[in-house]
Amino acid sequence: MELGSALHFLDNKSILVTGAAGFLAKIFVEKILRVQPNVKKFYLLLRAADHKSAIHRLHNEIIGKDLFKVLKEKCGKNFSSFISEKITLIPGDISHEDLGIKDCNLVQEMLNEVDVVVNLAATTNFDKR
Ligand SMILES: NC(=O)c1ccc[n+]([C@@H]2O[C@H](COP(=O)([O-])OP(=O)(O)OC[C@H]3O[C@@H](n4cnc5c(N)ncnc54)[C@H](OP(=O)(O)O)[C@@H]3O)[C@@H](O)[C@H]2O)c1
Repeated sequence: MELGSALHFLDNKSILVTGAAGFLAKIFVEKILRVQPNVKKFYLLLRAADHKSAIHRLHNEIIGKDLFKVLKEKCGKNFSSFISEKITLIPGDISHEDLGIKDCNLVQEMLNEVDVVVNLAATTNFDKR
């Protein structure tokens, strides 16, 4: 697929990304926010006990990483508002029913809004049983 047609496809689309704090997921999210800022929204599902710890993971393990430096420079003082507008955090676990999402309104919103699911949640520790 040509980059131009991928960008066109992503325009105004909402994307659910699982395993959002993982290696591939953050590269994926950063790249799209940088090259297609007109993406409508990312729903980032990560394992967290509650919304507060999800925010902590977002800042420490995703947008706080050097990977996001270029996007930060590009957005300047609008970086925080851009992130708030484009990212909805979903504390969850894909091995649980309804992805472990406890907020029914959020489940309904996602059912209505999500156009694309990118499932990158995985156990990549090969010592696990
Ligand atoms: N990296 C590569 O070069 C590469 C190449 C080809 C294919 N892949 C595949 O792409 C996928 C992602 O790889 P990666 O390198 O990004 O792995 P990673 O860095 O280990 O990220 C995986 C993420 O999945 C999350 N996760 C695990 N179980 C979960 C669950 N039950 N519910 C929600 N989240 C869960 C982990 O969460 P926690 O942070 O909470 O542990 C972690 O953040 C894997 O299937 C891998 O085999 C990777």
